[in-house]
This record gives sequence, structure tokens and C-alpha cells, in this order.
Amino acid sequence: MSSLFIMKPVSHLMHEAGESQNTLKRTLGAGNLIALGIGAIIGAGLFVRTAAAAAQHAGPSVTIGFIIASLGCAFAGLCYAEFASMIPIAGSAYTYSYATMGEFIAWIIGWDLILEYGVGAATVAIAWAEYFNKFLEIFGTSVPYEWCHSPFQMSHDGLHHGIMNLPALGIVIVLTLLLIRGMQESALVNAIIVVLKVAIVIVVIVVGWQYIRPENHTPFIPAPTTYTDHMGISYHYGGILGILGAAGVVFFAFIGFDAVSTAAQETKNPKRDMPIGILGSLVICTILYILFSYVLTGIASVQEFRTNGSEASVVYAIEHMSGQMVGGVWVPTFQWLSDLVTIAILLGFSSVILVMLMGQSRVFYSMSKDGLVPKIFSEVHPKFKTPYKSNLIFLVLVGIFSAFIPGDIVGDMTSIGTLFAFILVCAGVWIMRVKHPEIPRGFKVPAYKLISILGIVVCAAMIFGLGWTNWVRLFGWLLIGFVIYFGYSRYHSRLRNPDKYPHDYRDDIHEIPKEIPPLI
Ligand code: ALA
Repeated sequence: MSSLFIMKPVSHLMHEAGESQNTLKRTLGAGNLIALGIGAIIGAGLFVRTAAAAAQHAGPSVTIGFIIASLGCAFAGLCYAEFASMIPIAGSAYTYSYATMGEFIAWIIGWDLILEYGVGAATVAIAWAEYFNKFLEIFGTSVPYEWCHSPFQMSHDGLHHGIMNLPALGIVIVLTLLLIRGMQESALVNAIIVVLKVAIVIVVIVVGWQYIRPENHTPFIPAPTTYTDHMGISYHYGGILGILGAAGVVFFAFIGFDAVSTAAQETKNPKRDMPIGILGSLVICTILYILFSYVLTGIASVQEFRTNGSEASVVYAIEHMSGQMVGGVWVPTFQWLSDLVTIAILLGFSSVILVMLMGQSRVFYSMSKDGLVPKIFSEVHPKFKTPYKSNLIFLVLVGIFSAFIPGDIVGDMTSIGTLFAFILVCAGVWIMRVKHPEIPRGFKVPAYKLISILGIVVCAAMIFGLGWTNWVRLFGWLLIGFVIYFGYSRYHSRLRNPDKYPHDYRDDIHEIPKEIPPLI
């Protein structure tokens, strides 16, 4: 085997995991895993990207986009669960692939995870900023357009240009500082936020259902055409291409379910509970998403989502589904619901951003310990015991994305990067069955050839639907990754250069301190 695909022995992983990992208590059952999943899943994808997908790609058929995205996630999720069950320690896709598919693929996946976690966090922060403005409106004020949009954005009336997105930058700074101080979301806070998010989704579905206007759902699948927005950006709208594009966009709404697999070690019966946890949270979210997107596209029109309702779209739709003019001012019937949704969304998004930033520093911590990225990413704060330098570097990166890039672009980059990583995971399961049938697997994908192919096809279809501008961005991203890998990582890889690092995998070097929080 080419040394490009050098694999990290599982015994190394076990050693790195150290005592702290081995003593994790097995306390989680399937129900806890489902709650964990839902906490990480429901966020900006549903409350912001759904309306964007309807406006730009599919109209009401964004609902079908959700079904396609959920299928891709289900197939990839099964493959993910098999990988997680092969490696008996907690970790991310990066960790699993290093031990199974080798260093180069692990590098690509780790590099892609920056898109999933880092750029994903920026996407949610930008979405947070939209609802923050709605929150300020409750008190009769708001951030001026210029200071809550990127320089690449212009208002629909053409009168205002963005300069930088201050609220998005602000929430990233606050949450990074909390992370550096070692804040972890407690199980209780997670549980409260999960209940809040699910409750809001259900209330909007139930209340909104009566205000669905059939004309907004007709035709359900618009005829294929091209839509050009007020900035001059064109999209395939309607037909199959529109649905695939929408699926790629709302795929973002499912990101995070893979975090469930990182809790394998704390699970009472991983063989049974892991697939239930991953697929259970997926099934629940899929049902909620389908109903929610059906209602959302029924209570407001595509035209509204392209104009006045393009931001904080859910609150816009709630406020406009019913109300009356009083003295020339529109008074919504469900003001209480829109205020409640705004507050729930701000809390829910904050928890998603926190989880993503945490995931990012955790993956880079491992990559740094392996020598693939510089040591600075694993330097731990003397007092707080957190990888504070890594957090600060990512604050700069995520902050720049949040402040200066439009949400559409970072959202689609997150989707395409994660889809690409999922394709590698789906292919990897098959490859590993052939090359290493002997490794014990706690969970095996049923009909793995079929599932693996279906996973690849569905994820590739969504990548196709995201269009060439996103392919170019992904290609550019991978290119930068290759330059770093071949220019730096290969020469510093501890696994590849054992003589340079003679103490590796022996004593203390790789132990992950307890204080580094797990992905959730
Ligand atoms: N799935 C998460 C969200 O939609 C990332 O915000």
C-alpha cells in the first residue's frame, strides 16, 4: 500500500485516548442519543436556509428536497455508525478514517470538517444575526443594514450596501471566549434547548397549518427555469435540478447528526443504541422538517421569500400569515408566537454554534497531535485547560467568514464540504469490508454495497444540484488542503516520521486532556 495511505494502528488510538477516555461512564441510552442529535441538528438549516432554498431553487418542492437530503444522511449515517463501531474510542470522522482509510483520506476529511464545523458555525452566526435584528425590533430598534450584512450584499431596494456583519461577529466572539474559559453545555441545558426547539417547530406547524394558502403551493413543483436575484446571481429554479439544488441547500439542516457517533464510548449498548440514536434523530428531524417546510411555503409565497421575507423568514411568515391594518400599521395576530420563535431561535442557534466551534477545535487538536497541523493547535491554556490558541485562530477565520461573506455562500460551502466527506465515508465502508474484513465491527451496515452506492449517488446528486460555483469553491478548498498536506503535513506527520518523534505513542504525548470537551 502506498505510504500516502499509511494507517494509524488502532492500538495507537487506544493509547492516545488514555485513561480519561477509558473511564468514561456508559450512561447514555438510545433516548439520550436522540436528544443529543436533535440538539445539534435543528438550527439555521431549518429556520433560514429553507426559505432560501424555496426562493432560489424549488418553491414548495423544497419539501421534496428535504426528503432527498434525509435519504443521503440516512445512508451516510449508517456507514458512519459502522466506522464508529470499528474504533472503540470516541472521535470524529477524522479519527476513524486515519485508522481505517489512511492518512491522506483522513487529511481530506479533517480539512473538509473545517467546512462543516468552522464555516458551518459562521453560517449559523449569520443566521443568528438576522433573528437578533428581529429581537431588537421587539424593542423598537435594529442594527442598520450596513452593519449587519457582508460587503457582497445589497438591500432589495438597492439603497444600502453591507459593510460588515457585526452581530454575527459578536456572537462568534462571545461564544469563543466562553469556550476558552472551558464552558460546556450541560446535559440539562441541552435538554431544555431541545424541548424548546422541537416545541417551536410543532407550534408553528400546528398554528400555521390553518393559514396555508393553496395558491402558494401551486404548482408544487415549479416548471424548470432560471431565477436571477437582485444581485444578479442566477440559479436553476424548478424541475428536478431545482429540487436537487434545494436538497443541497437544506442538507445543511441535517448537519450535526454525525456528532451522535462521537458518544459511542459513553453509550450503554452502542451496538443497538448507536444506529437507533443516529437514525432516530434523523427520522424525527425529517418528519418535522417536511411538515415545517410544507407549512412555511404555504403561509408565504416564493415572491415574499425573495424580497421582504428573505431574512428571518420564519418570523416574517408568522407575522404575515394573519393580521389586520390598524391606523395604517400591520398588526399580526400571532405576535406572541413570532416573539417566542425569535427568542427560541437565538438560544437554539447559540447552542449549535457552540457545538460546532467545539467540534472544530477538537478535530484540529487531534490533527495537531498527529503532526498534520502545527503544534499551536493543541497548546492548552495553563489555567482553563482548553486549546485556547486554536480557538483564537478559528475565531479569526470564522469571524472573517461571519463578518464579510454572505450566508448563502458559507451555507452552501458547508453543505458541499460535508457532502464530499460523506461520500468518502460511504466509499470507505465498502473498501474496508474488502480490505479488512477481519476488524471486528460492533455495528454492520445491512446490504453494505447497496447502501454505500446509494449514499454516494444521493450525496453526489446534491453536490451536482449545488451548481458549478460551489464545485469551484470546493475544488479550491481541496487544492489549498493538498498544498498544505504535501507542503507541510507529510513532513511533520508523526506516524510517517517515527524517527523524528521517537517518544510517540509511548508516554504522555497523545493523551487528550479531560478538559477538552467532547463534541457535544
Ligand atoms: N444542522 C445545523 C443547523 O441547521 C447545523 O443549524
